[in-house]
Amino acid sequence: MNLKGKTIVLGITGGIAAYKMPNVAHALAKAGANVHVLMTKNATEFITPLVFETLTNNRCIVDTFDRNFQYDVAHVSLANAADLMLIAPATANVIAKLAHGLADDMLTTVTLAAHCPKLVAPAMNTHMLENPITQDNLKTLEHYGFTVIPSGSGLLACGDTGSGRLPDEGVLVDYVARELEHEKDMQGMKVVVSAGGTREPMDPVRYLTNHSTGKMGYAVARACMLRGADVTLLTSSDLPPVPFVKMVPFATAAELFEAVKANAMDADALVMAAAVADYRPAQVAQDKVKKGEGELSIPLERTRDILAWLGEHRRPGQFLCGFSMETRDMVENSRRKLEKKHLDLIAANNLKEPGAGFAVPTNLLTLISPREELELPLLTKEEAAHRLLDEILKLR
Ligand code: CTP
Repeated sequence: MNLKGKTIVLGITGGIAAYKMPNVAHALAKAGANVHVLMTKNATEFITPLVFETLTNNRCIVDTFDRNFQYDVAHVSLANAADLMLIAPATANVIAKLAHGLADDMLTTVTLAAHCPKLVAPAMNTHMLENPITQDNLKTLEHYGFTVIPSGSGLLACGDTGSGRLPDEGVLVDYVARELEHEKDMQGMKVVVSAGGTREPMDPVRYLTNHSTGKMGYAVARACMLRGADVTLLTSSDLPPVPFVKMVPFATAAELFEAVKANAMDADALVMAAAVADYRPAQVAQDKVKKGEGELSIPLERTRDILAWLGEHRRPGQFLCGFSMETRDMVENSRRKLEKKHLDLIAANNLKEPGAGFAVPTNLLTLISPREELELPLLTKEEAAHRLLDEILKLR
């Protein structure tokens, strides 16, 4: 995550969930953001400003009329400097004040003056949250352009169980990353990505598969999300879900094919990074044929080539990108696949090169389109994903 050059204002109000916020402030500061923390007076009963000052290297402001502060007219300067405001936890009281334009302390004053994106994460007792007054106030905030981060469900500090729990730190950081991390040059685009290897059952116990972990496809899905696309990830991997992305599981090539037909036909771009096994056992629950010294031989049949099927059935204007894994003659073989499968782009990885391929955090890709070849240097899978998307946007 890179938030260099971004100014983020964290507003912390008086709820027990404030204990999670040092982790959020720390994560954002570590990503390079300039983090300013504003606290209501009640929030300081739960956690001390010193914690945030130490983590952010900035003065934590509580009182509007604090004289000892670097900005001349603090509320206006900070409001102008902010690229984003996150108010978390947001109590019912502060939500009510913000919904009605009240500004009686530093936090509500800066929020009213700020014109950047504003995120609000309510955290409170279930009954307070479900009270129609609070619900109406949240709708009012949404009406005025605030993003309301849904609270989670679970056991609350007050002993009740239900909604009102502040989402975990990582979720709050994901919301900030989505807002700030990348230029939204894929806004309005629907993208479907596939990731992971297929698993073809041989019998109820064993299966055929490959070494794919799904990392490259997940990096592509995340990069599309950060660039504003509406993303669906077809996955057989057990990596943690990509936030804000629709996750559709598959195990076999046949299931991937069904998922493609159900989710991909209206996509603007398809990036098929799944490592589909070319063969599967001819039938499930095989009659095992013993050969010689107990060696197992199983009749195989070819799986459907999903990418080739897409090349034939895609709608006009739909961009189709495949991946290829080669051990030799990478460019020639990949170009042949590009042509045979009617692709717009193929990302070729040479398995023999160090740092490329399965289960490593880096990749060495050559992007091959009908008219050109672009050799990328050794990059992290995240960086490689962004370069791949740059190329897709250029060719589209
Ligand atoms: N692919 C697919 N369905 C298959 C096999 C492959 O959709 N049954 C897709 C992969 O997702 C990948 C591309 O085709 O995007 C290339 O896969 P690869 O295994 O490199 O090529 P193949 O065409 O299968 O050729 P070969 O295995 O002979 O190299």
